[in-house]
Parts: sequence; structure tokens; C-alpha cells
Amino acid sequence: MDFTTRRQFLVYLGMGTYSLLRSSSGMASAAFPLARSKASNGRFKPIPSSVSDELILAPGFRFDRIASYGDSLGSFGPFGAEHFGYDNDFTAYFPIDALSGGKKSDHGLLWVNHEFVSPFFLHGVAGNAARSVDRIRQEQLAVGGSVLEVKRKNGKWSSVVGSSFARRFTALYPRFQVTGPATGRLGELSGTLANCSGGRTFWNTALSGEENFQLFNPAQSDSLNWAQHSQTKIQEEHFGWIVEIDPFGELPPKKHTSLGRFCHENASLRLGESGRLAVYMGDDSADQYFYKYLSREKYLPSASRAVSSALLENGVLYVADFRKGQWVPLDLQANPALKSAGFKSQAEVLLRTRDAAKAVGATPLDRPEDCEVHPRDGSVYLSLTNNAGHGDFHGKIIRLVEKDDNAESLEFRYEIFLAGGPQSGLSCPDNLVFDSKGNLWVTCDVPGYAIGKGAYSQVGNNGMFMIPTSGRSMGDAFQFASGPVGAELTGPGFNESQDTLFLSVQHPGEGSTDRAHPTSHWPRGKDLPLPSVVAITGF
Ligand code: FEO
Ligand code: CA
Ligand code: CA
Repeated sequence: MDFTTRRQFLVYLGMGTYSLLRSSSGMASAAFPLARSKASNGRFKPIPSSVSDELILAPGFRFDRIASYGDSLGSFGPFGAEHFGYDNDFTAYFPIDALSGGKKSDHGLLWVNHEFVSPFFLHGVAGNAARSVDRIRQEQLAVGGSVLEVKRKNGKWSSVVGSSFARRFTALYPRFQVTGPATGRLGELSGTLANCSGGRTFWNTALSGEENFQLFNPAQSDSLNWAQHSQTKIQEEHFGWIVEIDPFGELPPKKHTSLGRFCHENASLRLGESGRLAVYMGDDSADQYFYKYLSREKYLPSASRAVSSALLENGVLYVADFRKGQWVPLDLQANPALKSAGFKSQAEVLLRTRDAAKAVGATPLDRPEDCEVHPRDGSVYLSLTNNAGHGDFHGKIIRLVEKDDNAESLEFRYEIFLAGGPQSGLSCPDNLVFDSKGNLWVTCDVPGYAIGKGAYSQVGNNGMFMIPTSGRSMGDAFQFASGPVGAELTGPGFNESQDTLFLSVQHPGEGSTDRAHPTSHWPRGKDLPLPSVVAITGF
């Protein structure tokens, strides 16, 4: 690990600027500083953390609300009129002229993931109590993803209701193609759910990560009889995959089993030196692993979209061993440890990816969530959100550098880029996105019940931060946005010209116990809160 400054070394140790000040001034106070609000970063004036029930942005920026839960898409699917789903997460903007190589930045398609529902806000009952088949169906239709057509007119962004592109993919969507080694075990599938973060491919499709699928199975304690249980039960093996969606509707929706089955956070793409495609992926659970998929064939920009998509069908999945700095193949033929552990087929390795990773000695991490490839140097930044079981409450962002800077390498080194906590002003990093200058934009996922308490006593509502990755302010977190009460800001994504940032406001009012008095009334300022996607301008 290289540390070019003492400050970086202290950040690595989780001590940071405060310790630096203290050690140089002889200060005796043991109090922590408040989250820092720095003067300037050349892009915006940072805001202090906040506990108000608003989406607050740095001065000079504004947002347009594009869609909220329940908004009509003006489209009709297999289950009738379609509506915008609940708990929006990942967003991906595609220029409307992308298939002819265009980069239109004021007119495009927006893919949005819908991760969870709140039974309390949907039905007025908490948790799994008083579930019914109808209620579960309503929940299944509120997750998955949405395709919206979005346009900017007179400086204001909105969604085109009734667009021929608008449509929903839900937990009841009838047909997903299955590709890769586990195809024979699964056949064609219906439904996608728990869609957390994702990625955008070079051929203009969206990759959507099915994350906490296990939470969608009704529990024995639910008030369902046996027949209702079987009617609403999900087949867990059908979920936990990376789903590919073509917002333009040319390619069929697919689940790619070569990329493994676990609680997929996102998928971030980079080309290796010879042109093979690397896909980096985190498994968002405590003590789970970080993965890289490498296609066998090379990506050719001139190839058809169908041929490019097939790169995700035939390749090798690797898992990271941080102790040795190695990518370990989860390939039954290449890795004898898998056979010794009793795996009989590659389909089984992929269906039970976590077990396979454990069997080959992969390194368990503190909730590996979003990862993104740096646009200038190709290194991979990965959020490790937290792991209370290890006493890691604030998380960190690490940076992996592949050997020879080649995404096809099977060796890497890593360093800690930023440690969460009062010294950096940022806690529980989750979603990441780079701008073209290499600034890292980070949204935070402090558990709602803990904000302002205990280890999080100085933490306000979940927000968004910008962190330069070079220059004098490298590694300093500048707060750009603060979310409404109970919300998590998720799924940040820029348009082509980067004059607009699309952002999801997920689960505002989480933790409310009284529908007459929810903890958040965002975005309407009254009534129940609504998860919504906004477009932020002013860049
Ligand atoms: Fe769905 Fe990993 O947050
Ligand atoms: Ca996330
Ligand atoms: Ca999260």
C-alpha cells in the first residue's frame, strides 16, 4: 500500500484529520468534531448534515421530481394498467438515440430498479402481519423495475406518460430467458424482485442486481393458510441473479447464471487489455465476498447487441482473496477445491455461489455493496458499508488496482481510500458513481433506526457526498445532498453530458408507526411519504 501523505495514512488507520490536528497542536479534548463542512471544492459549496424532512441540495442546484410510487406509466402489461413501483434504487439513463451512437442528453430512457415495498405504507400493517394473497400480489407488482421515457423541456425534466417505451418488469413478469451453465436447471423463469443497484453495459442495456430475494418468501408466521402459502411462495433459486434488460425492447429480458447467484448489489463493467469483458460485483451481506466475471470472448464495438449480450453467457466467475491479492476461479474444471468440497456440476457452483466462494477460501468482507470503475485509471472502488458484528459501524471505501492495470489480471492489490466515521463526515458508504473528472459521488446507508443514536449520534439524515480522487482534496468528503427523514438516497446516475444527476429517494418515512403521523411527508409535504426519482440540475 502506498500512502503519499501522512493524512492518507491516518485516514487508513481510521484516525484522519482530527487526529492530525490533535497530534500537532497538543489539544487535550477527546470530543469528536462534528461532521466537517468544508469551504470549497471547486464544484459546489458543501452543506451541513441535516435532520429535516426535505431533499436538500448544495446551493445553486435544484431537482425535478420525475416519478413517485403509484404514478401511472400510461402503459398496459400482463396485469393491466402499469404504475411506477415502490422503493426505487438504481437508475440508468440511455440517450434516446443511443442505438445509432447518439448522446442526446435532454431526451432518453431511464431504467429504475424497485427493490422493496413497505407493507406498512401499502396496506397499513407492519411487517408480515395480516398478509393476504391480494396484498402479496400487490407487493409483487410494486417491485422489479420501470422503463420511463424522460425529457427536458424549458429546463425541466419529466417523464412521458403513455410513451411506447414505458413498461414494468415485476415479480410476476411472465418471461425471462435464462443463460449460462444453470439454464438446464432453471429453464425459462417468471419474475424479478429485490432489484437493488445495477450497471449499464457498453451495448445500452441495464444490468439489475437481485439482492435480498429471501425476504420475499412468506414466513410460517404469516397469516396465510397452506394453500395461500404455496400460491405466494417464491422459488428461491429463481432469484439472486443479474438480470439484463434492454430498455429499447430489442433484446429479451435475461437472467445470466454465469455471473453467479447471491445478494447482488450491482455490476460494473471494464474491458481488459485484450478486449475481454470484466464485470465486478459485490454481495451485500455481512461477511460475504467480492466477485469478478471475465468473458471468454472479446467485446467488439461493431458486433450486434445480441452478440455483445452473449458475452455474459460464457465466461469464468472469480472471487477475491484479499490476503493473497488473487482472483480465485469458481470453475469446477479449473479449481479442484470445488470438487473436493462436493460440487458436482458448474450449475451447482453457480446456484450456490456463496458456498463455492467459502470453499475456495475467499475473503469475507464487511458488506461489499456498490463498486465502480474509475473513468481515468481503471481502478475499482468498492463500498464496504458496515459490519456491526465486527465493530465496523461506519464502513469504508476500498480501491483495487489490477496487476498491470489490466482487468483480465488474476492478481490485484488494494488500499483503503476512505474510512467512514466522524473524521471523514461520511458513514456507511453504499452507492457510488464517478463523474468524468474522476470525482466519486457516494450515497450513504446509515440504518434508519440508528440515526442520531449511539455510534451514529453525530450522523444526520442519509445524504450524498462528493469525494475527489486526485488533487489537494483527494479523499475529502463534501456533502452535496441530504435526504428526507427515514430515507436513503440511492441509485445516482448521470446523463451523457453530466449536466443532470438522476437520484432515487428510497423509503422516506421508514420506521413510521402511525399512518396518521408518519415521520416523513416527503415529497408532498402532507399525507404519506412516496419513494420518488428526481433529476438534479445545476452542474
Ligand atoms: Fe440494496 Fe445493498 O442495498
Ligand atoms: Ca444499495
Ligand atoms: Ca444499502
